[in-house]
Amino acid sequence: MSYPYQITSLEAYREAWQRSIEDPAGFWSSVAEHFTWRRRWERVLTWNFTEPKVQWFTGAQLNITDNCLDRHLEAAGDQPAIVWEPNDPQEHHRVLTYRQLHFKVCQFAHVLHNNGVRKGDRVCIYMGMIPELAIAVLACARVGAIHSVIFGGFSAQSISDRLQDAQAAFVVTCDGAFRGAKDIPLKSVIDDALVTCPFVKRVIVFTRTRTPVSMIKGRDVWWEDEVHHVETAGNPPFPAVEMEAEDPLFILYTSGSTGKPKGVVHSHAGYMVYTNYTFVNVFQYRPGEVHFCTADIGWITGHSYIVYGPLGAGGTSLMFEGIPTWPDAGRFWDIVDKHRVNILYTAPTAIRSLMSYGLGYLEGKCLDTLRVIGTVGEPINEEAWHWYDAHIGKGKCPIVDTWWQTETGGVMISNIAGVTPAKPSYATLPMPGVEPLLVDDAGREVEGNGVSGNLCIRSPWPSIIRTTYGDHERCRTNYFSTYPDLYFTGDGALRDENGFYRITGRVDDVLNVSGHRIGTAEVENAINMHAGVVESAVVGFSHDIKGQGIYAYVIMGEMHSDPALTRRDISLTVSRIIGPIAKPDRIQFVSGLPKTRSGKIMRRILRKIAEGETEQLGDTTTLLDPGVVHEIAQGRLGQ
Ligand code: WTA
Repeated sequence: MSYPYQITSLEAYREAWQRSIEDPAGFWSSVAEHFTWRRRWERVLTWNFTEPKVQWFTGAQLNITDNCLDRHLEAAGDQPAIVWEPNDPQEHHRVLTYRQLHFKVCQFAHVLHNNGVRKGDRVCIYMGMIPELAIAVLACARVGAIHSVIFGGFSAQSISDRLQDAQAAFVVTCDGAFRGAKDIPLKSVIDDALVTCPFVKRVIVFTRTRTPVSMIKGRDVWWEDEVHHVETAGNPPFPAVEMEAEDPLFILYTSGSTGKPKGVVHSHAGYMVYTNYTFVNVFQYRPGEVHFCTADIGWITGHSYIVYGPLGAGGTSLMFEGIPTWPDAGRFWDIVDKHRVNILYTAPTAIRSLMSYGLGYLEGKCLDTLRVIGTVGEPINEEAWHWYDAHIGKGKCPIVDTWWQTETGGVMISNIAGVTPAKPSYATLPMPGVEPLLVDDAGREVEGNGVSGNLCIRSPWPSIIRTTYGDHERCRTNYFSTYPDLYFTGDGALRDENGFYRITGRVDDVLNVSGHRIGTAEVENAINMHAGVVESAVVGFSHDIKGQGIYAYVIMGEMHSDPALTRRDISLTVSRIIGPIAKPDRIQFVSGLPKTRSGKIMRRILRKIAEGETEQLGDTTTLLDPGVVHEIAQGRLGQ
C-alpha cells in the first residue's frame, strides 16, 4: 500500500466511512498524522452550522507547500512534479522535477516578497495554463499570501469586480495566453480592469506569447527581470511562512443565484488534508503514475487536482495549455499516448464534444497506459459514459464520476476507482467524512432509498467553505440558512435502491454550461448593460454538447431593423461584461415577460418554452398578462 490512508477494499471503505461519521476527530487526526506540521493541532474540530463556524486542526501550524514540495525532496526530488504540454504540439514539452519546482517556487516567493507581498495579502493571478501559473499559486501559499486565480476567459469587468471585492493590491499575469488557434492578450485585459482598481500597486508580467504590451512605470514589472534580481542575490532559500491551520489559503470566485460572484474562502490545513486524501483515494493513485486533469487552474478542479492534491501526494501532474479540439480532436489522445498517462480526469462536455468528432481521431493512439478515468463538473449522460468506457477506458478502466463543488474543496460523492462499484450517471457513494442527506422543499428529511430531494450535508468535512470573502452573512444565507443546521448544496439528487446518489442538477438559478457555473442573474445584468435592452430573463435549456445552453428572452426599447445584428451586439456585451463563456446560445426578442402580479418572473414557464414545450405550460392564470405566454411560445427559437 502506497499511502497508509488509501482504502483498498469495499469493506475497508464501509469501515472508514462509518468511523469518519461516528468519530470525525479521531478519523481525520489519524489521516493528518501523515502530513508535515510545524506544530501539532490542539483540537481537531470545532463547529456549528448556525454562524457558521468550522475550524479544523486548531492550534496547528503548517505551510501547505512544505507538504507539496519540501517533504518530497529527499525521496522524490528527481521525480517529475509537473509535466507540461504546450498548446502547440510542435513546441517542446517541459518537465519540472520536485527539486526544480521547489527551486522555482522559492525564487518566485522572493519575487513576491521583494515586491511587497506579505502574509494575508491578496494576490490575483490571471494567467494561461503554463507552469508559471502553478509556480505563482504555490509561491503565494509559501509567503502566506491569499491567491485568487481568475480564469483566463473572464473579461476586464469581471476581473475588476473580483479585484475590488478582494482588495487585491497585487496581480500576476502574462503578456498573453495561447488557447487553440487563439492568442488572448491577458495583460491588455488586466490594463482595462485596472482602470477602476487604483489600489493595485504591482503587476508582475510573465512573457509567454510576445504579444506587445504596455508597461506602466512604477506599477508593472517583468517576471523575468524580477527573477534575475533573485538570481543575482544568489538564490537564497525561502523557508515557507508558518501559517495557522485556519489562515485562508485562497479565494476562488464562483457564481450563485444573485448577480454578484461569491469569493469562496478555503483554509490551509483542512484543504490540504482533504484534497490529498480524496486524490489518493478516488483515483487510487500509485506513486510514479501520471495524472492528467484537463481542467484549467482557474477553476476549483485545477486547484485541487492539478496543483494541491497531486503535489501533496508526491505525484506527477500533467498540465495542458491548450484545448481538446486543436489542432484536431485527437489532442487529448496524443497527450495520453505521448506522456503515458495513467489517470485521465475530464468533463462530460469534453467527452460529448470529442464523441461528436467520431472514432477516427483515436486511430493509432495508444491509450494502454490508462488505468483510471474520471469525470467532474456536471451530470454525465449514459451515452457519454458508455462511449468513455468503451473507447477510452477500453472496458478495463474504472470511471469515477466525482460530484463536488467550489465550496466543498474536494470530491464529496464518488465511487473509488476499482474499489467501490460504479454505476453509469451515478456519483454513487459519499467519501469518508461526508454525510449526505436529501430534504424536501419544506426541509423535511426524505428517508429510505429510491427517493429524491435537495442534496444537503449534515456535518463538516475538512475542506468545507469557511466564508465568502468580506461577507460572512452571505455565506450563511447562501449555504446554511435554507435548511437549518445543514449545508445546502444547491443541487437536486436521487438515491437509488442501493443508496447510490445520482446528481440531477442545480435546483437554484445557476446554470451549468460546459461544466462552468453561471448565474442567470449575472447574465441578465450583463444583457441589460446593452443600451437598447429594457429587460431580460435568462434560463437554461438542454444542449447536446454543453449540457446546458443559455436561452435569453429580451425586451428591446426600440428594435433595430436587423435582429441578427442586435443579437450579435448583445452577445458582445455579455462577452465584455462577464466573458465569452456566458454568451447566450439563443436570444429571443419578446414584447413582455410572464410575471406574477407581484412582479416576479415565472421562470418555470420560460424554461419549458426554451426546452421546446409550448403547449403544456401549467397554470398561467396568476400572471399579470397571460397573453404574453402565447406570444413567447410562438416565437420560440429552435435548433
Ligand atoms: C455540478 C466543480 C453532476 C453540480 C467541481 C455542482 C456535478 C456544480 C458533478 C459545482 C457530477 C459537479 N455530477 N453534477 N459529477 N460535479 N457537478 O463549483 O451542479 O464549478 O453543484 O465545481 O457542478 O460546480 P463547481
